[in-house]
Amino acid sequence: MEREAIGILGAGWVGTVTAACFAELGHDVVVRDVDSARIEALATGHVPIYEPGLEELLERNRERLTFTLEIGDVFRAARLVFVCVGTPSTHSGDADLSAVYTVLDEIPEVDHRVVLVMKSTVPVGTGEKVRGALDARGLAHVGYVSNPEFLAEGTAVHDFSHPDRVVVGAFATDDGESVAALYRPLEAPVVHADVASAEMIKLASNAFLMTRISFINEIANVCEATGADVVKVAEGIGLDHRLGPHFLRAGIGYGGSCFPKDSLALKQLAANSGYHFQLLAAVIEVNELQKRRVVHKLEKHLGTLRGKTVALLGLAFKPHTNDMREAPSIVLASRLLAEGAKVRAWDPVAVDEARSLLTGVELTDSLLDAVRDADAAVIVTEWPELQELPTEAVRDSMRTPLIVDGRNLLDPASVREAGFTYEAIGRASSLLSGLPETEEPSRELKA
Ligand code: UDX
Repeated sequence: MEREAIGILGAGWVGTVTAACFAELGHDVVVRDVDSARIEALATGHVPIYEPGLEELLERNRERLTFTLEIGDVFRAARLVFVCVGTPSTHSGDADLSAVYTVLDEIPEVDHRVVLVMKSTVPVGTGEKVRGALDARGLAHVGYVSNPEFLAEGTAVHDFSHPDRVVVGAFATDDGESVAALYRPLEAPVVHADVASAEMIKLASNAFLMTRISFINEIANVCEATGADVVKVAEGIGLDHRLGPHFLRAGIGYGGSCFPKDSLALKQLAANSGYHFQLLAAVIEVNELQKRRVVHKLEKHLGTLRGKTVALLGLAFKPHTNDMREAPSIVLASRLLAEGAKVRAWDPVAVDEARSLLTGVELTDSLLDAVRDADAAVIVTEWPELQELPTEAVRDSMRTPLIVDGRNLLDPASVREAGFTYEAIGRASSLLSGLPETEEPSRELKA
């Protein structure tokens, strides 16, 4: 494989992971960010984000990685320049592309062909607009390729190295080929598409994953009302090869840096084109309501929440990350405070991040400090540590031993046996302890 000189614009979470992984594949990577503290940290071997495996990868490939504040360094060195800047929501719900356009304005004069590769999630039609803007600036020799990322936080390094597919949308076949070639060692299927379709693949993939989550959450709510158990139901659904088992974990809704903003952006993109994306609007609404259902579960056992102490356990939007962006814990904390409850909160990692976001909430250093004298403990994020929650020490330290398991992390029967009142999501019957496990066909039958 040819050793490429690759540029990365934006040393956020996607940019840093992408840089480290391309360096691991043997390429030379120049990373540029406008944040001097971040560049300084990365250059001295400090990783400003929590992502398993990333620090080791950056360390191992130090020689092939350069960090800079100068965009000129990137364009002078690289032929392929990945754009990994943030595209947050604007007040209208559209994606804010100002960071992308700043990059375009900053492209310096170069005497070799350069291809801009868009990794950031952008609305369909962005590539076309960028192409127009490049041409208008007399930069016809700068190519453009859409190559969306499908990295989930917490498993990003693994996701990069084991992609289900690589999507490449190009205006010029050669440019698309150059990008696809980078991924060849990963032996993944490559979907070559036009730029607009590549952009849509990313938005639609995320929207479909969110649809599955909101779907199973609604099934969970109906399970609660009718006496079924959503965990068993999801198991039975997931074994259908047409449906598959993924993204069927019922809970208190999705959060994070991608799903909430990308669903709004797609809904808004459709609306701007005159189409009301009804299903996606429902998916978003179900997710909003799902976060609030915990409050009713608490009220069912405690009556009014005024003056009651509720411990929120796990604050990051999902385990194995310190990312608090759009975390359900933020909405839940403010709902509980609005009901007059005292809120304590604990997370094994996202402490600093939570401090600035959860105003009026007491953050504790230990799980035991969070639940001491509490009227209820709510599992908001399924950190593995919380599997150990139903201990005697926890039960005895709580004022009322009530656990609301917002992620169906615990086994209902054993929590109740340990002397807790237990509420989960969509597990009305929760009588599973007496049932045999799902049977696998015997080998002879399979053959
Ligand atoms: C997601 C996509 O998976 C990734 O491809 C994309 O590039 C960025 O967005 P990420 O936000 O890191 O990645 O996390 P993911 O693991 O997908 O979870 C998103 C949210 O959905 C979390 O809040 C998680 O708790 C929730 N979720 C996930 C469920 O509630 N139930 C599930 O079954 C799966």
